[in-house]
Amino acid sequence: MNVIIETDRLLLRLFETGDAALLYELNKDPEVTLYTGDPLRDITHAQEVLEQVILPQYALYHHGRWAVHLKPGLEFIGWCGLKYIPERDEVDLGYRFKKSAWGRGYATESADATIRYGFEKLGLRRIIGRAMPGNLGSLKVLEKCGMKFIGEEIVEEHLAMTYEILNGNY
Ligand SMILES: CC(C)(COP(=O)(O)OP(=O)(O)OC[C@H]1O[C@@H](n2cnc3c(N)ncnc32)[C@H](O)[C@@H]1OP(=O)(O)O)[C@@H](O)C(=O)NCCC(=O)NCCS
Repeated sequence: MNVIIETDRLLLRLFETGDAALLYELNKDPEVTLYTGDPLRDITHAQEVLEQVILPQYALYHHGRWAVHLKPGLEFIGWCGLKYIPERDEVDLGYRFKKSAWGRGYATESADATIRYGFEKLGLRRIIGRAMPGNLGSLKVLEKCGMKFIGEEIVEEHLAMTYEILNGNY
């Protein structure tokens, strides 16, 4: 297990090629993808996303989406992390958790630690976060992490509320 971040309750680690089933199980719940719009068709699709989207980010940018495990039993509960968006030259904070793990502060705990890592270890200048207006939980997480609302925009055909945080302001 290649651990990147440890918090009081969580471990964030690099995804590996054998993690397709974890991703598929996570995205299988329609409530989990309600505001993300990217359900996975099957394990083969999950494997493609893993190998073509998630894993290459680590090599290219030294960050990416990380698997989140609950200490001490190391149950997989979801993912959190950063993603570089080349067409916008932005680093995006994202997170997604199994419904069984919602409402316990895990998104805030992992997102907060991810922002800190991005600024302190990676030297990023700015991190953004986006959520649809109806995704109240996600908007709350962004706000609890100290991100500031900077406007609405259409991203991939959906209205998004965009937040940002600058290095030095966290
Ligand atoms: C959004 C999500 C990550 C929140 O995770 P979580 O671990 O439940 O969040 P936290 O426990 O850290 O909660 C942070 C705050 O949001 C609030 N909150 C969480 N879900 C909420 C909801 N559905 N409605 C209103 N408030 C909500 C919590 O009460 C908490 O506020 P508080 O500290 O004032 O009580 C989780 O619901 C999820 O994975 N959703 C599916 C994927 C997704 O939408 N990802 C984000 C895409 S932009």
